[in-house]
Amino acid sequence: MASARPVPQLTVTTEEGSGARELEYEEAEEINGSAPLRRKLSTSSVSSTGSSVGFEESEDDVLSDNETKSKGIVTLEHVGDSGEQANPWRTLKTVIHWHVVASQRKRLSWVQLAGHKGSFKAGEEGTILKKYTENEKLCFERLKGDVLEQFVPTYGGTVERDGEIFLRMRDLLTSFDGPNVMDCKMGVRTYLEDELVRAREKPKMRRDLYNKMLEVDSEAPTADEHRQQAVTKLRYMQWRETISSTSTMGYRIEGIKKSDGTCRTDFKKTHSREEVTEVFKDFVSGNEKITRSYIRRLEDIKQTLKASDFFMKHEVIGSSLLFIHDHTERAEVWLIDFGKTTALPDGQTLDHNKPWLEGNREDGYLWGLENLLFTLHSLPAQCS
Ligand SMILES: Nc1ncnc2c1ncn2[C@@H]1O[C@H](COP(=O)(O)OP(=O)(O)OP(=O)(O)O)[C@@H](O)[C@H]1O
Ligand SMILES: [Mg+2]
Repeated sequence: MASARPVPQLTVTTEEGSGARELEYEEAEEINGSAPLRRKLSTSSVSSTGSSVGFEESEDDVLSDNETKSKGIVTLEHVGDSGEQANPWRTLKTVIHWHVVASQRKRLSWVQLAGHKGSFKAGEEGTILKKYTENEKLCFERLKGDVLEQFVPTYGGTVERDGEIFLRMRDLLTSFDGPNVMDCKMGVRTYLEDELVRAREKPKMRRDLYNKMLEVDSEAPTADEHRQQAVTKLRYMQWRETISSTSTMGYRIEGIKKSDGTCRTDFKKTHSREEVTEVFKDFVSGNEKITRSYIRRLEDIKQTLKASDFFMKHEVIGSSLLFIHDHTERAEVWLIDFGKTTALPDGQTLDHNKPWLEGNREDGYLWGLENLLFTLHSLPAQCS
């Protein structure tokens, strides 16, 4: 038969103690004998703030910090192998699987700094699968041919696995060796105007959200809220934006995983410019070359955003810039997460810089990017 491709297969293993579960790609040799593909990630452990996997209740990311949220190193399940036995390629993979020797196995773990546990699966080598949402699919399709496409992970269409639909995209970590990763969620708010309207329509007092508020700051609820031991979802959503740097700086840090294996997603209250600057400084380990690379890349992104038709015509909410660098000092930034990015009505455009007033749909993305650049520019002086 024609030359066979290397076959990635996954075995999920559990590392007791560290809390990190790793996945193994079992990469069969090509049948003609050439070496299998290799990808190297760091061997990671998870700090006390990190852990992983599972799945979640359906409420949106208002409930951001419950146990169902990913906190760093995750195990991606490789879906579909069992349900598609009729497929000859699958059968071939199964056969090859049994002939794989232990030495050909490669351990990999993936970094997921935000989102719900279980919302990502492993795709073929170099790709990941993200749970389907209509919004995000439409965004990927509309990004095709837009100038911004070069800064977005390559999109490979939808795939069905075990009856579920996923969006296939490039795994941005693949080409890095022990990557350091940071997720910055952009914009002055992380909820859509529509969500605000819906929350207002249902002013139900919620004890669960009151408790979440208490966990972060016991003085945050008003006397009345304390008396009722409950807050509305609207109040919770608005309060949450003020405790991070979202409303004051137009971005917030969601999570960081460093090549030394440490993982942090406890930035909910990282609010001031000084605090954020410290986190950045630690992320780049004071490395000026990496900082400058990030600045150059962000300047490119900024110019491209300003020229992008897609950007002009969308309310970009909850989208992140993903920062990645490794010991080779290569540094990249990518735009990810379009789950809440929504097209504006025909003819309407956004400036992304103006203050948000309910109704104008401004998201403060560019303003946040300016602030982020300002923070990075301030680093070299502090690092030396
Ligand atoms: N293409 C990619 N390559 C590498 N890592 C990625 C990629 N897409 C997402 N990630 C990782 O997964 C995390 C979550 O991704 P994403 O924000 O798209 O998920 P989500 O479910 O929409 O989460 P949320 O709504 O909470 O932000 C990111 O913080 C990043 O660590
Ligand atoms: Mg995200």
